[in-house]
Amino acid sequence: MFDIQEIRSQFSILDREVNGKPLVYLDNAATSQKPNSVLDVCHAYYTELNANVHRGIHTLSQLATEEMELSRRKIQKFINAEHDFEVIFTKGTTEGLNLISYILTQKLQKDDEIIISYLEHHSNIVPWQLLCERTGAKLRVIPIDENGVLQLDYFDNFLSEKTKVVSVNQVSNALGIVNPIEEIIARTRKNTDAYVVIDGAQSAPHFNIDVQKLDCDFFVFSGHKMYAPMGTGILYGKREILEALPPFHGGGEMIATCSFEGTTYAGLPFKYEAGTPNVGGNIALGAAVDFMNRVGHENIQNHENALLEYAQRHLLEIEGLKVYGEKAKRTGVVSFNLEGIGISSDVGMILDKMGIAVRTGHHCTQPIMEFFNIAGTVRASFAVYNTFEEIDLLVEGVKKAQRMLS
Ligand code: ALA
Repeated sequence: MFDIQEIRSQFSILDREVNGKPLVYLDNAATSQKPNSVLDVCHAYYTELNANVHRGIHTLSQLATEEMELSRRKIQKFINAEHDFEVIFTKGTTEGLNLISYILTQKLQKDDEIIISYLEHHSNIVPWQLLCERTGAKLRVIPIDENGVLQLDYFDNFLSEKTKVVSVNQVSNALGIVNPIEEIIARTRKNTDAYVVIDGAQSAPHFNIDVQKLDCDFFVFSGHKMYAPMGTGILYGKREILEALPPFHGGGEMIATCSFEGTTYAGLPFKYEAGTPNVGGNIALGAAVDFMNRVGHENIQNHENALLEYAQRHLLEIEGLKVYGEKAKRTGVVSFNLEGIGISSDVGMILDKMGIAVRTGHHCTQPIMEFFNIAGTVRASFAVYNTFEEIDLLVEGVKKAQRMLS
């Protein structure tokens, strides 16, 4: 049974006040709050287990290693990877995308093409631009229509023997639009040998992910948006692809042998995990997966979709309010502006005075803002612990901001 009060009781931070008002936390696309079970795991790691992993003969080191590898297997199951060693711990989505674009350098030549979309976060744009600078490859960008929906006819026209990489997000962070990645992957496979990269930063907190069913080559996401600590994330890559590609960072842990004459590299996953990892965070990411499994993916999605539908319906009752991507399939996000109020942060500041946390501005997606000819939006984004009452407060807050700023 889905009991929202029981879920909220697991997040101590939701009891605090901000500016003298109960916190209404609607900035979950930026980072989610963490349940006490995750925080307890972090605390227990540092009070009972702290040691470096994969290096020590001593008991604590072995226990810490076991816990981190157990977490890796939980995440393997969470995304249905075939092997646990296809699950690489990273700092987050940005690191994952930079890693992939770096290790693909030797695979691209001048005039090869990388396809991304207009809906990407800067972290799925800039690493590919850097790869283009290194190789002479070119970036092609799938356009969107006025609803923010990807125009796949253009994508079909872009696909050719020159296409070496297709990298798109499953859900847009700025607008919450759900992209047809199954279709994008199928069309890529049919027409090219390109590597397919999926940015799952905004989908992993909401959807059931099955990387084998998707048949993507890489899938990256962040832990901190799905109830885990900051500085955690995952890069999934298919075994045969990761085995064939070069390492990223050099250092401890990623070598098999090291001498001045030359170095050989460790097998997966360690080849891509140079240096001391965020052991406590990585273990806590496993606890976040446990939390999501306990709540249940179906419950998470049903509740968040209901919140989104309710929020959009009531926000649109406000005269002069425009929702971006209003008619598109979306999850977890409603992004909007008020007519005549060009500075979204003015609305955000008034909401903040009422204890309501939203993100304002360009959301690290300046091309989307350019497309809609705006400087930014007000973005409310939902997690499983949000309530309909909180949406009512948001709607009241937006009305108040409109009165104050008009
Ligand atoms: N990428 C995060 C966001 O969309 C930080 O807010």
